[in-house]
Amino acid sequence: TYVIAQPCVDVKDKACIQECPVDCIYEGQRALYIHPEECVDCGACEPVCPVEAIFYEDDTPQEWAQYKAVNAEFFDELGSPGGASALGLIERDHPVVAGQPVRTG
Ligand code: F3S
Ligand code: F3S
Repeated sequence: TYVIAQPCVDVKDKACIQECPVDCIYEGQRALYIHPEECVDCGACEPVCPVEAIFYEDDTPQEWAQYKAVNAEFFDELGSPGGASALGLIERDHPVVAGQPVRTG
């Protein structure tokens, strides 16, 4: 799977959403999350993120290694909805994302 890491927090550019052929990039309050079982590893999202927040799981920088679990655990309650657009904004975040300091420009 691919993983969305810390640079997405409070940026949420969403260019990635437009590229995903299986609609598996879900919007939380402060970041987006890739569903690890719905992602087909097409890789289309990775180059379009302007802040380089997206990585193939094995290529995620060490400082953001926990984001593989962050993306997966976001779906603990949701299961596999099979499409992000139908859900729209999900008004919560994984605790790791929720705990990030708020960016002040
Ligand atoms: Fe976030 Fe980059 Fe997508 S900032 S919403 S991962 S394009
Ligand atoms: Fe979609 Fe990116 Fe996976 S475009 S299928 S989330 S690699």
